Amino acid sequence: MPHIIDPWGAELPADYDRLIHEFGLEVFDPKIFPGPNVPMRRMVCFAGRDLKRIASCIAEKKPYYALTGIMPSAERIHFGTKTVIENIRYFQEHGAKTYVLVADLEAMMTRKVSLAEAQRRALEFHIPAYIALGLDAKKTTFYFQSENKQVMKLAYSFAPRVTTNEFRALYGTMDAPRMLSALTQAGDIFWPQLEERMPCVIPVGIDQDPHIRLSRDLAVRTRKEFNFIPPSALFHKFTPGLDGSLKMSKSKPSSCIELPEEPDLACKKIISAVSGGRETINEHRRLGGIPEKDMAFELLKIHLLPKDEELNKIYNDYKTGKLLTSELKQITCELFERFMRDFEERFERAKKIVSRLRFFRREI
Ligand code: TRP
Repeated sequence: MPHIIDPWGAELPADYDRLIHEFGLEVFDPKIFPGPNVPMRRMVCFAGRDLKRIASCIAEKKPYYALTGIMPSAERIHFGTKTVIENIRYFQEHGAKTYVLVADLEAMMTRKVSLAEAQRRALEFHIPAYIALGLDAKKTTFYFQSENKQVMKLAYSFAPRVTTNEFRALYGTMDAPRMLSALTQAGDIFWPQLEERMPCVIPVGIDQDPHIRLSRDLAVRTRKEFNFIPPSALFHKFTPGLDGSLKMSKSKPSSCIELPEEPDLACKKIISAVSGGRETINEHRRLGGIPEKDMAFELLKIHLLPKDEELNKIYNDYKTGKLLTSELKQITCELFERFMRDFEERFERAKKIVSRLRFFRREI
């Protein structure tokens, strides 16, 4: 039975190497991009499709765009969403036209969030949070799926090009909300090309790969009609839960840090997180800790400590037993608090920017 990635499911395959192999992904090489960001350097970005095309756009200063979408399925975002924003921001800073959409139609169909509620969450919280995380609002086109008729028209024109069997092979199951969501997402991915054909990169979690494969197939199948350039994709791993589970998820509050989060509460969660420490201090000093298994270290690596030398020092000190688990957790709590204070300040400023923001709306 072939493996299937379900973008809407809670359970996801854990073995990232196997995914690369099974789905014919490219292994991500951070050296192809100039000045790679933290998720790229730390191999949180681990795979891609057709990324050389994007690397050459950057090198030759040719036009391309970066586009991503986020479902406002909850009130706040969690730490994982930060990686998506950092990647889109990287491309924005490297010459890409940038699009960020609110997947309100998808949230309505698959998560039972009303369009009005999705809109409220996006305006009050999600979009200000993206701006607080460094997205340049002036250089970004924001839109709601439900307000972009070009996206919807494309979705409809793609519909007769997919068979139910293909859909089942891609997604495992087939129902109307999923089918409509997938076609709408393909519409999202291509609509900027209605104006001008150009390469694009979609930075997303690996759970979104079925949509990327569908869109790439559709580009080939609609070549005569549209002649779209198939999307490239950059995939990142999930931020693991503090209990060591594969994916930080709001359904397990003790293992999930949201943004914003009270630093005291976050710190409590960090203190009870799975650690790579040994049973006793003596043993820890003698054998050293296991940073690879330590969720506090993981937070430092993925989110809180951008300076490579500092991270390497902590890694080595922990591994050789010089640094104790309690000390590592203390460092993580302090850095989290600093990050959170900074985020909240930026968030307040971002809310003002959003109140003046003009969204893309196309009724014709
Ligand atoms: N399916 C994405 C999610 O679950 C949201 C999304 C909609 C998206 N359209 C997109 C992502 C286009 C990337 C590109 O969050």
